[in-house]
Amino acid sequence: MIDPRAYRNALGHFATGVTVITTRDAEDKPVGVTVNSFSSLSLDPPLILWSLAKKSYSLDAFERHPAFAVHVLASDQQSVSDRFARAGTDKFAGIDAGEGFGGVPLLPGCAAVFQCTTEHRYDGGDHVIMVGRVQRFDTAERPPLLFYRGRYATPETEAVPFTSLLRAFAGAAA
Ligand SMILES: Cc1cc2nc3c(=O)[nH]c(=O)nc-3n(C[C@H](O)[C@H](O)[C@H](O)COP(=O)(O)O)c2cc1C
Repeated sequence: MIDPRAYRNALGHFATGVTVITTRDAEDKPVGVTVNSFSSLSLDPPLILWSLAKKSYSLDAFERHPAFAVHVLASDQQSVSDRFARAGTDKFAGIDAGEGFGGVPLLPGCAAVFQCTTEHRYDGGDHVIMVGRVQRFDTAERPPLLFYRGRYATPETEAVPFTSLLRAFAGAAA
């Protein structure tokens, strides 16, 4: 028998980035939710995935609207993450949101944005798995916000290119 709290704590050992994923509801109001289940899925075709709890208020909007935008938060956007993780509030109050593919709201100041059309939705236990096809993307030179063991974190070091890491390992083995 799996203890739910221990299971949740164990999952928290996997460090992630933090995203806010936005769309519009049936009344065309902006909708957004903080999500760390985001993952790249396929390069060709360009697919990403994430999962949304079935109890989320925003589920209906994401099930209706054909598009959504994934905002990869920068290290100075912890307050944006907190805001979009709080249900039942006006999450967009005071935010100067733009408009992207399919009329989806776009948040400023992020490390990267992936604008997607919904390709598939799958049942995933108490979550719905959303698979998006990337239609447009943007990046900025901003360090990412991280999430680890239930807390926010920021990178301690500059990002090291993967190839130089490989070379370092090869050097150490020689
Ligand atoms: C760092 C972080 C990551 C989260 N990741 C997810 C996630 O991947 N899927 C999810 O359904 N909720 C996730 N949540 C919780 C939602 O953001 C939260 O339940 C939110 O209130 C849902 O909004 P809604 O009910 O207005 O749709 C996360 C919260 C935080 C703080």
